[in-house]
This record gives sequence, C-alpha cells and structure tokens, in this order.
Amino acid sequence: MIRLDKYISERTEYTRSSIRELVRRKQVTVDGVPAKAPDMKIDPETASVTVCGAAVRASEYRYILLNKPEGYVSSTSEHDGKNVMELIPPELRAKDMFPAGRLDKDSLGALLLTNDGALAHRILAPSRHIPKIYIVKLDRVFQNNYIDQFKNGIKLDVNETCLPAKVRQAENCDKLAFVELTEGKFHQVRRMFKAVDNSVEKLMRVSYGGLILPETLGFGECVELLHKDVENLFRPMDFDAFCDKFSVVFSAILINR
Ligand code: URA
Repeated sequence: MIRLDKYISERTEYTRSSIRELVRRKQVTVDGVPAKAPDMKIDPETASVTVCGAAVRASEYRYILLNKPEGYVSSTSEHDGKNVMELIPPELRAKDMFPAGRLDKDSLGALLLTNDGALAHRILAPSRHIPKIYIVKLDRVFQNNYIDQFKNGIKLDVNETCLPAKVRQAENCDKLAFVELTEGKFHQVRRMFKAVDNSVEKLMRVSYGGLILPETLGFGECVELLHKDVENLFRPMDFDAFCDKFSVVFSAILINR
C-alpha cells in the first residue's frame, strides 16, 4: 500500500502540494469516490485513480516515441533553446522524463523519451551495441566503395576510428543512403560521410534496435509505447531486411523534406 499523493506524483507532473489542493477540491477520485485525504493509503496494483477527470496510469514508467522535427535539442533543459520536451503533450508527460539518447538539433526521426532510468541505462550502455538505422540525404551521389570503407571502420580523426558500420544506397535515389551504427559518437553519421568526401544534408533516424519509426507518425508527433514494445529494442531487425522492407517508405519521406 502507498500514499495517494506519492502514487500520483510519481506518475504525473502534479506536485504533492497541488495534489493536496486538488483533493481538497474533490478533484481526485479513488475507485470512483472522491479521495478523503492526500495521505490515504491505496493499493497501487488495483486502485483506479483520476485527477481532474483524467485517469492516472497504473505504471509509474512511461515510454514515448517521438518523431523529432528539425530545430529541437534532445534535452530537458529550458536553457538550451527549443527542446524536445515541448513536443510531448501534457497528458503523455511524466515527472523526470528525459530523452534516452540524442539526435542533433537538425536531425529528424526516432527519439525515445522515458522516466525509466534502468531501461535507459540498458539502451545507452555502449557495451550493448544496439544498432541504430539512419536514412541520409547526401550532397553528392552515393559511391559503392563506401560499403567497404564503412565496414572496415571509418577513421574520423588521428585517434578516433569507428566500429564497423553498414551502409547501402536507397533503391530509388542515388543521393539517399541507409546507415547502421552500433555506437554513438558525436555527430557520427555526418562525420563519417565527410570522411569519404561527401556531406549529409538531411539525417533521419528510422530505427532504434527493433523499434521502427511508424510511417504514419508525422514530424513533431509522438506515440506512447508499452513496456513490451520497448523490449523490441533489444531484438533488432537485420539491416538488409530492414532496407528491403522500408526503403521506399522512408526515401519518400526524406526526399520531400
Ligand atoms: N549521427 C549524427 O551525425 N547526428 C545525429 O543526430 C545522429 C547520428
């Protein structure tokens, strides 16, 4: 059994003091009945709680998949300019939610936000090498020799070499390519193409492990995932199978960008 105010504050953005006030105004219900006191004890497994008419979800963890648009930083700080948190509708936000991973300000695509620190830690652990797939629009035509260069490890600097990566031209455009990385160095995709004398004009992350950006999700839109969906992250799809299946869909999205 836990305190009602603790239960609500762990699952929403309401503070303990605002919950106290809402209870006083009979805006909080437990199993359909107005709550008597903020410190009343409830069973977190079975209680059905509402605040201002909206149901409070039973799980304290939330997982949001955002299709990040350009111009937003992957941060929770208001001091960094426009940040991705602004794109999450209030009803999907949770206290202590943060982006589990980063995309550059001008990058697009899949970004997971959660308040589940343990899961984020598993995702971000470098030793896990969770593959991430990006589609890029290049300044110059794709060269087939990139395939071996990426496979052998692109040298970014005198003492910075990338792990083997996969790259492939998208079928319907010679300036579009898919890249799969299993690490996350600073501006890595952009720097890898620079190292082979090309440059990235647009970059969109289309998959994160086995989590694939739904093609119906517009830029700036997000969707809530269940914990079991998020576990797909750890079951990635083969790169070539992914490209065969999704090349046309994602190429069309990036070409028109
Ligand atoms: N690589 C980049 O260069 N930028 C990103 O946002 C992600 C990967």
